[in-house]
Amino acid sequence: MSATSTALEFALRPSTTPVAQVRREEILASPGFGNHFTDHMATATWTADAGWHDDAVVPYAPLTLDPAAAVLHYAQEIFEGLKAYRHGDGSVWAFRPEANAARLARSARRLALPELPEAAFLASVEQLVRADEAWVPTGGESSLYLRPFMIATEAFLGVRPAREVRYLVIASPAGSYFSGGLKPVSIWLSEDYTRAAPGGTGAAKCGGNYAASLLPQQEAVAQGCDQVCFLDAAEHRWVEELGGMNLYFVHDDGSIVTPALSGSILEGITRSSILQLAADAGRKVEERRIGIDEWREGVQSGRITEVFACGTAAVVTPVGRLVSREGELVHGGGEIGEVTQSIRTALLDLQYGRAEDTHGWMRRLV
Ligand code: PLP
Ligand code: COI
Repeated sequence: MSATSTALEFALRPSTTPVAQVRREEILASPGFGNHFTDHMATATWTADAGWHDDAVVPYAPLTLDPAAAVLHYAQEIFEGLKAYRHGDGSVWAFRPEANAARLARSARRLALPELPEAAFLASVEQLVRADEAWVPTGGESSLYLRPFMIATEAFLGVRPAREVRYLVIASPAGSYFSGGLKPVSIWLSEDYTRAAPGGTGAAKCGGNYAASLLPQQEAVAQGCDQVCFLDAAEHRWVEELGGMNLYFVHDDGSIVTPALSGSILEGITRSSILQLAADAGRKVEERRIGIDEWREGVQSGRITEVFACGTAAVVTPVGRLVSREGELVHGGGEIGEVTQSIRTALLDLQYGRAEDTHGWMRRLV
């Protein structure tokens, strides 16, 4: 499906009822994750006849949807997640937003949604962050989390790709994803459920994948764990990823290994950035299949010295325990490992403008 050739500009139609400064500052002092939203949102509409149009940054408000809208019945929906970071000089930057634009386009193809041109994606993010610049937190590891998404809005109950679609971006000030801050997380190994199957939608960022992860995630919480880890659907043997993060294994020779993209793993932008940053630091990096037995034996023998999870929301978070029906396997001494820490620092230094951007990954928004 093609888009119109007219450039989308997302011109601002400012809110006349923005959140009061005092209240905004209260929120920014302790934002948590995903709790509060800014004064505006970006929006554009696509129809099969007219392509993309009606682009603007408008006041944040509830949507009016026909109850027959396809997204409500057949989950034709995709989304992205990226952050805007405030640098020491007050400027605001995004990290590799072109990669999010490309992944949204790949997700769109898989979900039979229209592709949004990269320039339009970048304009939507830039215009929204400019409008809501006052919502970009300062200090610590805080940021403005951006959530672009696309939904099938056509009112039609037949099962086919919708001919009317809406794209939106909302923004939410963010502190740490995990309420405990940076401490090792525990992982429950899901042996009864899988997240994605060969030929399915695992490599796309679509809402259905997350709906499917909620019950196993609930099981993880019932087992006293923070996150759930999924194995491959065919053999129940190969480590894939967590519900919303990719995984890395640090070996005793200093090398790092992450599960190879299988078609059912989401290609994390943090994951691929770490492959590059670790290689830049002279570390051996590998993408290959990792069996659950290798994980267990590696931790027991000391060959695997650290395990960490990574993603936009969670940044780099150490894994402290793997729990399954076989019992519990403790990793490290309840502290972040040395390699995990150095990778975490390298990534954050880049995102917050404290390190030189040798790959041209940062894009200035404000
Ligand atoms: N895997 C899943 C299932 C995710 O939802 C995410 C989060 O976006 C990731 C991995 C990490 O991707 P990224 O680093 O692009 O945020
Ligand atoms: C992200 O890291 O952006 C995610 O999407 C993870 C989760 C909040 C869905």
